[in-house]
Amino acid sequence: MSMTQLRDPLAPAQKITSQTLLERKQTGVPITALTAYDYATARLVDDAGIDMLLVGDSLAQVVLGYENTLPVTMDEMLHHTRAVRRAVRRAMLVADMPYGSYQLELAEGVRNAARFLKEAGAEAVKIEGGSNRLELIERLTDAEIPVVGHIGLTPQSVHRMGGYRVQGKSLAAIRRLRQDALALERAGVIAIVLEGIPREVAARITAEVAIPTIGIGAGNSCDGQILVLNDLLNLSFTPPAKFVRRYADVAEVISGAIKHYREDVQSRAFPAESESYHLPAEINEAIADETKVATRNVVKLSARRKA
Ligand code: KIV
Repeated sequence: MSMTQLRDPLAPAQKITSQTLLERKQTGVPITALTAYDYATARLVDDAGIDMLLVGDSLAQVVLGYENTLPVTMDEMLHHTRAVRRAVRRAMLVADMPYGSYQLELAEGVRNAARFLKEAGAEAVKIEGGSNRLELIERLTDAEIPVVGHIGLTPQSVHRMGGYRVQGKSLAAIRRLRQDALALERAGVIAIVLEGIPREVAARITAEVAIPTIGIGAGNSCDGQILVLNDLLNLSFTPPAKFVRRYADVAEVISGAIKHYREDVQSRAFPAESESYHLPAEINEAIADETKVATRNVVKLSARRKA
């Protein structure tokens, strides 16, 4: 614990809610959103004034090392959402519902979504899909669970899509996306993530719905932007997608620090005197005296044995 900044307990933290996000759209102030998966990074994201914090199921890849988002479980998502909850004061906290937690049974979807609010302190859940999710969204909204929609390139559909491909390129696909967005809005979502679609399509959808759109790989006409934190920091160990901007090379910083530590340990440059605990002088002297007496006794004993 050291160089991390402590929060100013008196600093006002205006809480971001779904109403704030709506006002942002209405007043044309872009919404900022990022993912986070643990206490430390969530604190940094929240303290930096990001509006929405998503515990994304991208956790599966960037934190747990899986190849895609499909294997991450409810328990894992809840565990990480709780850690993030403990860090976040101002941002709106959204939890991603993992694959398999809402696609199979409506009642199971509602029960799982409620767990994010009840057991992990999330303020909304995000689910992937369009017109095929309307009944679930209505049930969730009815159960007082705010929902963020997610259409376009939906990573949980990786096998159906045949890979991570930009969506909404043909006229028919664009029409479907626009219909999906309007249907999600009617069903009650508070915002829609638009992922991996041409910027022109995202701009059109953004103009057509009254709720905020949050883009990732969808151009700059959306009402807000979201990125995977690890991508932005170069901590995801994959070549970045076209839409990722790397704002820092944290992998380089961490690797450099670890190599430096290893060298310092090997050369005994670490820990230094100033990084060690010391005995008070009188105790140190007393120990030295005791050691002298003990050494003298050993010498006498061995001399006697030899004689
Ligand atoms: O899981 C995720 O990180 C997402 C994105 C929208 C960022 O769903």
